Amino acid sequence: MRFSTRTRFWAVLLPLVFVHQALQAEIRETSVWWLPRNVNMFGHEIDFIFYVILGLTGVTSVAVFSVMIYFLVKYRARPGVPAIHSHGNNTLEVVWTTIPVFIFLALAIYGNEQWTQMRLRQPPADAIPVAVVGEQFGWNVRYPGPDGKLATMVASKVGKENPFGVDPADPAGADDFTTYNEVVFPVDRPIRLYLGSKDVIHAFYVPEFRLYQDMVPGRVYDFVWLKAEATGNFQLACNQLCGQGHYKMFGKLSVVPVAEYEAWAKGKAPVKVSAQETKTTAQVTVAER
Ligand code: CUA
Repeated sequence: MRFSTRTRFWAVLLPLVFVHQALQAEIRETSVWWLPRNVNMFGHEIDFIFYVILGLTGVTSVAVFSVMIYFLVKYRARPGVPAIHSHGNNTLEVVWTTIPVFIFLALAIYGNEQWTQMRLRQPPADAIPVAVVGEQFGWNVRYPGPDGKLATMVASKVGKENPFGVDPADPAGADDFTTYNEVVFPVDRPIRLYLGSKDVIHAFYVPEFRLYQDMVPGRVYDFVWLKAEATGNFQLACNQLCGQGHYKMFGKLSVVPVAEYEAWAKGKAPVKVSAQETKTTAQVTVAER
């Protein structure tokens, strides 16, 4: 059976259109075909190293495949031409082993330096502390009130009724407020995150921040910080398969001007800390049996 040119054209194009539509299901402001835009202070270096690696591997692939195709044609079997046996070339071997060694070393040293800047350096003293605790299937978020201080978060106190593992007697927590699946950050202000989990492993992942951190129950991750350089609406989507509802574990994340952030925070009532909140996971589990 023969197909017309037009039929073949649509047979190729239509599947591509459907795949493209499916990809669009992801909520993003920018193209799904390339990197989402970067709005975090640390993102520039991550994008830079990405493009360096893409360039190196791209040039290498083109060079390797060009030589391979050239040799395939040049040394193809032809009647009357005897085969040539090659035993390699030691000089070439040394050259093409040494160059990649130095490239990989340079990438490792640069990458390690960037990691140190992002994760091992203390956040600035004026960073706003924000606690984010994942649960099946949503995000608990805790903000400091006017005092700028969060209640101390203790991993062993995190429980069903106390997602943030705080001590109700902690004065720093008296004016804290909480939200659910709603994250608002002021632009151009450092944010220090306190990340935790109530139940299973979740992951704090915002592609536009070039930021990813697993949240393992029993730990509080206090070394992740960021500074958004532009306003916008993004998605905080969990990036660890955490159960049947994983697909719907996402929250709205907006970066807004500082004045707008302050007005938003002012409108939030402090969270009531009940005696219930003091129970640990173990106590709650026992009480429920
Ligand atoms: Cu939480 Cu996936």
